[in-house]
Amino acid sequence: MAAQHDGPQIPATLIPGDGIGPEIVEAVVQVLDALGAPFAWDVQQGGLAGITACGDPLPAATLASIHRTRLALKGPLTTPVGGGFRSVNVRLREEFGLYANVRPVRTMLPGGRYENIDLVMVRENLEGLYVAFEHYIPVGNDPQAVAISSGVNTKAGSRRIAEYAFDYAVRHGRRKVTIVHKANVLKALTGIFLDTARDVARAYEGRVACDERIVDACAMQLVLDPWQFDVIVTTNLFGDILSDQMAGLVGGLGMAPGANIGPDAAIFEAVHGSAPDIAGQGIANPLALLLAAAMMLDHAGRPDLDARLRTALDQVLMQDNIRTRDLGGAASTQAFAAAVVRRVK
Ligand code: NAI
Ligand code: MG
Repeated sequence: MAAQHDGPQIPATLIPGDGIGPEIVEAVVQVLDALGAPFAWDVQQGGLAGITACGDPLPAATLASIHRTRLALKGPLTTPVGGGFRSVNVRLREEFGLYANVRPVRTMLPGGRYENIDLVMVRENLEGLYVAFEHYIPVGNDPQAVAISSGVNTKAGSRRIAEYAFDYAVRHGRRKVTIVHKANVLKALTGIFLDTARDVARAYEGRVACDERIVDACAMQLVLDPWQFDVIVTTNLFGDILSDQMAGLVGGLGMAPGANIGPDAAIFEAVHGSAPDIAGQGIANPLALLLAAAMMLDHAGRPDLDARLRTALDQVLMQDNIRTRDLGGAASTQAFAAAVVRRVK
């Protein structure tokens, strides 16, 4: 698999994952090879495959590899229900301080409910209510009569994610960042985020426009007029909810890539899961993972290859009319990958 490339090789960890993971990862590797992507893959296991190989869904060798390469492409991982295993995704976020969750959505297939959608969610990935500091207070003989949860937002964490969002806007030629909050009610928890993000916005005046929305109004406006938005930056829980809503604007999770970015590592993946219902049938759509690979190319300093890959994907979908079943076509995973390979060459 000696690919042609004009830059230095970049070591990167490749986790095939579970269910449809190995099928779509194989398809993505074929496309990246044809593109001449510079990645030198270190293949490691995770999820059920990790349990089979090492008794741990996140084996030490996989963590060591990402510590070394600081860059990973990950197929979906099945987190076993029960059995005492913590979510692999949460462990990865914590281990590598992956504070920014970046989820772009773009219309690739016209004829859906919305045309010309092109939005980016930048979600804080480590703080907020998802720190899950939770406990119950007993009342009478009910030990769980009251549930309490504390959210944690820090100035440092808010500044870091806001700066990431504005830097992202500058790097990608985006015109505006919208700060989404609920500071009218959660005055401390989301007020600290709003105030800090406003302060960051001032440093970008004249380069990137900035406005603000309260989260509930933002949800409505995303349905009524999504084109008014560009980049959205918000706290963990709001970003989780709004990013799925935004994926719905472009046809669902099959079109949605995601990047988890931290100071020490970046991990790229599709937003969807391991789809056990169709695993092994060769019909899974590799599109979301291909879009994640495109983001990875951009992150690795190859925006040229990112653009070439995304152009090829548009051509395969719209000019060659080759699509997998979930998008109304009849192509297998391999047939779709082969079509993209023809277009990127
Ligand atoms: P899922 O996203 O795997 O599947 C939901 C539905 O979408 C299924 O009908 C599936 O066939 C379909 N689908 C998903 N991806 C597809 C693709 N690429 N092509 C065609 N159809 C596709 O969600 P589900 O079933 O809730 O989760 C399955 C497993 O995945 C669980 O163990 C869950 O924990 C894990 N998961 C892992 C994630 C990750 O590693 N980032 C994210 C989400 C779920
Ligand atoms: Mg979510």
